Amino acid sequence: MKRVDDFRLKFGKKELVPIVIGGMGVDISTAELALEAARLGGVGHISDAMVNTVADRRFNAKFVKEKLKQYKFNVANSDKSVVQFDLGQLAEATKMHIGKTMEAKRGDGLILVNCMEKLTMNAPKETLRVRMQAALDAGIDGITLAAGLHLGSFALIEDHPRFRDAKLGIIVSSLRALQLFLRKTLRCNRLPDYVVVEGPLAGGHLGFGMDWSQYDLATIVAEIRQFLLAEKLDIPLIPAGGIFTGSDAVSYLENGASAVQVATRFTVTKECGLPEDVQQEYFKVNEDGIEVNMISPTGYPMRMLSKSPAIGDGIRPNCEAYGYLLDSTGNCSYINSYNREAAANPGAKRLSVKDKTCLCTQMRNFDLWTCGHYTYRLKDTSRKLPDGTYQLLSAEHVFHDYQFSTDNRIALPE
Ligand SMILES: Cc1cc2nc3c(=O)[nH]c(=O)nc-3n(C[C@H](O)[C@H](O)[C@H](O)COP(=O)(O)O)c2cc1C
Repeated sequence: MKRVDDFRLKFGKKELVPIVIGGMGVDISTAELALEAARLGGVGHISDAMVNTVADRRFNAKFVKEKLKQYKFNVANSDKSVVQFDLGQLAEATKMHIGKTMEAKRGDGLILVNCMEKLTMNAPKETLRVRMQAALDAGIDGITLAAGLHLGSFALIEDHPRFRDAKLGIIVSSLRALQLFLRKTLRCNRLPDYVVVEGPLAGGHLGFGMDWSQYDLATIVAEIRQFLLAEKLDIPLIPAGGIFTGSDAVSYLENGASAVQVATRFTVTKECGLPEDVQQEYFKVNEDGIEVNMISPTGYPMRMLSKSPAIGDGIRPNCEAYGYLLDSTGNCSYINSYNREAAANPGAKRLSVKDKTCLCTQMRNFDLWTCGHYTYRLKDTSRKLPDGTYQLLSAEHVFHDYQFSTDNRIALPE
């Protein structure tokens, strides 16, 4: 019986343990978590979601305060079109977050940044260009394009000196999305170095409709593999979503995958950015406490714990401080929902907004508990302590469990 350790992810001459810890936005996949993956010879991700906020928290910087100061005059205005990111500050925050992480890197693995196109930031093209260029400047090993089709993303960095040496990959949930991306990027004369195929059981946003349960990761991976073989395209495939044990991973690796991308198992590690009381909710939840809904203003379905404080919360939009989801016209669907409730409940102290959420504020405060489908199995990966809480794991423990386990076994912590 094979183990994950019998396989290697080959990137040119580099051989890596074929375990990729996926990006988990707004600092859930912290630098500490990514650094552990790299130290252990695998691949870790940080995320540049809300990077100004993350840089403030990590380095005691003042990016958010300065933006809020600049746009304070607009806080009560429902028109947010004037609220722009200062591109210099965005570059600085990105370089801080990524540069400090790369300085701390030890070991043979890689650290990539998860870069979501849906963070349109009231100037989609310009901000995405700055985010990616600054990431390359700061020495990131590579960029994983996420949450969007990214049809123009390669072109935004094709003049960068690292465009051909950095690893560049994309997350897709269908063959069609991959075909569109490849057709568009042909112009830059550069293929992606890897393709993450994310199925419907993943955490975060889903690249499916509310009919997500009709899809199956193994089928999509097989379809994409056939296409790549037929086109003679030698691009490593990395399935993601619901790969819970080392044996799950082995079955993909035996069927031609080059690595697996995993996340949920790492949400209950000490290195993960979620506060510990939230991690205990992840441990405790049962299957019926997890839902996929449409409250994210991105328009994608999102999976989360039904107990998330964000659900139904009606906080005032905080775009002057954050504003990461403002589209190119300065709008966000949460603003519309909030304004509708405000108009219907004049003078109300606290509003409830049910159909959308202020994703920036809620993710920033760790009040939207996004999670993978198998979060309800996390309780089987640890020990229950006498006080009823569960023991947090180390990232090394979980990584090694994926790497060395057989027979669908999950090693409990010491
Ligand atoms: C808490 C959490 C947050 C996530 N956030 C992001 C994100 O910001 N961007 C992204 O591309 N994927 C995100 N994902 C998806 C993961 O990177 C990964 O592909 C997927 O969850 C793997 O499936 P698994 O969780 O079943 O192992 C998130 C997943 C989780 C569990």
